Amino acid sequence: MKSLLVSKEHYDHIETEEPAYKKMAKLEEEYGSSFYLFNLEKLRENYRKINYAFQSRYNKFIIGYSYKTNYLPYLCKELSKLGAYAEVVSRLEYDLAIKIGVEPNKIIFNGPLKTEEDIFYTLNNKSLINIDSHYEIEFVKNYCKENPCEQVKIGLRLNFDISENGISPLVEGNEVSRFGICVTNSDFNNLMNELKNIHNLKIAGLHGHFSTSRRKVSSYSKIAKTLCDIAKGYSLDVEYIDIGGGIFGEVPKSLIDHAPTFDEYAEAVCSIMNEEFPNSDEQPALILEPGIAMVANTFSFVAKVIGVKTIKDNHFVLVDGSVHNIKPTMHKKNLPMRILRQNEENSNKQRNFHVVGYTCLEKDYLARDLYEEIPAINDYMIFENVGAYTIVFNPQFIRERPAIVAQDKDEMFVVRKKETITQFFNEDLYCF
Ligand SMILES: Cc1ncc(COP(=O)(O)O)c(C=O)c1O
Repeated sequence: MKSLLVSKEHYDHIETEEPAYKKMAKLEEEYGSSFYLFNLEKLRENYRKINYAFQSRYNKFIIGYSYKTNYLPYLCKELSKLGAYAEVVSRLEYDLAIKIGVEPNKIIFNGPLKTEEDIFYTLNNKSLINIDSHYEIEFVKNYCKENPCEQVKIGLRLNFDISENGISPLVEGNEVSRFGICVTNSDFNNLMNELKNIHNLKIAGLHGHFSTSRRKVSSYSKIAKTLCDIAKGYSLDVEYIDIGGGIFGEVPKSLIDHAPTFDEYAEAVCSIMNEEFPNSDEQPALILEPGIAMVANTFSFVAKVIGVKTIKDNHFVLVDGSVHNIKPTMHKKNLPMRILRQNEENSNKQRNFHVVGYTCLEKDYLARDLYEEIPAINDYMIFENVGAYTIVFNPQFIRERPAIVAQDKDEMFVVRKKETITQFFNEDLYCF
């Protein structure tokens, strides 16, 4: 029989909070029984902390916010107001940046798939562009030919070894990353020479983003140092060194035991930049592309308890939400969470239970093996730290997407309405 004992970790991150219940019930009246809460102050705080950590050590520092992590227009606009560039990986994201008023020269176009039209449009707009593959080079050459009087600038996303002691830090245990142009291929030298010989083309930047599972500071030292070495080795007069994203933000202890701080990342990278470029007049910009670190802790998801049932020894709490709303990758770790209880009397009877969602998938668990007083119908469960790779990954599965409600100090306002059936089955898209 399954043990009812659970690790202390599960039990630590649930706290009960009675007075907030009424406030939540009012929000429910307006937005429905499940919705996201978006904390704008937290977003500003994240931006300021990251920016301060790096800029206080290296003045020419730029944050390129990774749109794919969470492209809620209101959020992107807020970051743009604070000074962030937009890091985009598709024409859709590029056009969103333009739509919300980001200046084209503050857009960084990355990503493995760019059409010739995308490249012409981006170069013509004087946005930053990082070329990921050889096929894109052909489009760049065509652009240079068609615009002989223009100085064309591109960046190159490079692919190199960042393993330590022979061990690759890449996600999924991958030995190599599939992105960027490989610097150890025999044709790399030729490519660099060919590009340098195009009279109106400048390699203005070098880019290296690697998705690593431990997000270690030493990986960033390696990325920064390698990019600087290549810039110098090929005598490139680079205007920026872009070390990509992937740093940890302020992660709850229940998720990661020791995440490096912004200061630790900044110290490692900026000391290399200052050493490599000691003359401040000639320093290239340093670009960081944070996604998770900027937004993960700015969202929580509220879901009302709809039913509670027992099957053999297992207690299941059904909420008006799904694992898709909080962790679309369906990883098994429980997020930090809270319960808002309607009934103040605490029975003090703690039990083991699971929180499950509205879909018909067996694996739709929002949390497993919690040990607490079982929530009652009409209580609310609040799942924290759900701002990254959630709303952009929500499948159109079974239900409409919930509302997103922003909180700015004492003010609450909607920044994405609850989807309606007409929007879900959009008649401009579907044939009836
Ligand atoms: C090129 C690039 N920049 C930035 C990011 C953001 O990464 P994270 O959300 O881990 O900070 C990604 C994510 O995959 C990326 O591919």
